[in-house]
Amino acid sequence: MFITFEGMDGCGKSTQARLLAETLRAQWGAEKVVVTREPGGTEIGEQIRGVIHSLRNHNMAPLTEFLLYNAARAQIVAELIRPALAQNKIVLCDRYADSTLAYQGYGRQLDMDMVRAVIGYATGGLAPDVTFYLDVDIAEGLARRNQGHARGEELNRMDVQTRDFYERVRAGYVEMQRADPTRWIALDGARPIAQVQQEIRSHTAQRLRQAKV
Ligand code: TMP
Repeated sequence: MFITFEGMDGCGKSTQARLLAETLRAQWGAEKVVVTREPGGTEIGEQIRGVIHSLRNHNMAPLTEFLLYNAARAQIVAELIRPALAQNKIVLCDRYADSTLAYQGYGRQLDMDMVRAVIGYATGGLAPDVTFYLDVDIAEGLARRNQGHARGEELNRMDVQTRDFYERVRAGYVEMQRADPTRWIALDGARPIAQVQQEIRSHTAQRLRQAKV
């Protein structure tokens, strides 16, 4: 089963993915659960992440950025995600192709047909079974993210976009959920971590039962 986590910066998805991984590992054994992130998750992907997110690369063209996210994605799909799914593992991925649709498609306003086509090439059509969307309003997300930076977390090139950009990204996420309500599970990410985690756990258990894992 392939489960992804999506949302605006500062929505808490990385924390939630990590907590879910702990629970699933306790239940199924460490070997059964793979937790990873995009961009990154492989040695090559982490190098690409460094290039995409470096503040030195402030003049990166939107198309370059888009292709680099997909280059990292092609690698993680080939090296990590497909082999893990072939062994019937549960893969949790912190961001995946929907982030490109939201940030580069809706946010940067690249041509959507081209965006979909390249994602299709990069992933070979591999889509998640379930996607958790953690909803926080933009101001709350940015405030949480700034607190993270104050604690020494990475400040990246995608963290310095305009408010309009984030508004478009969020509207894009809402549209994607409307188009595929079975795959997307939207949760209010402004609530306490444990409460959100409880819901994620129970939805996951239900989906695993349905898939007869
Ligand atoms: P993170 O903070 O969740 O690690 O994500 C890093 C940033 O990269 C975040 O601002 C969203 C952005 N991003 C894209 O713009 N497109 C993508 O395809 C992915 C995976 C991330």
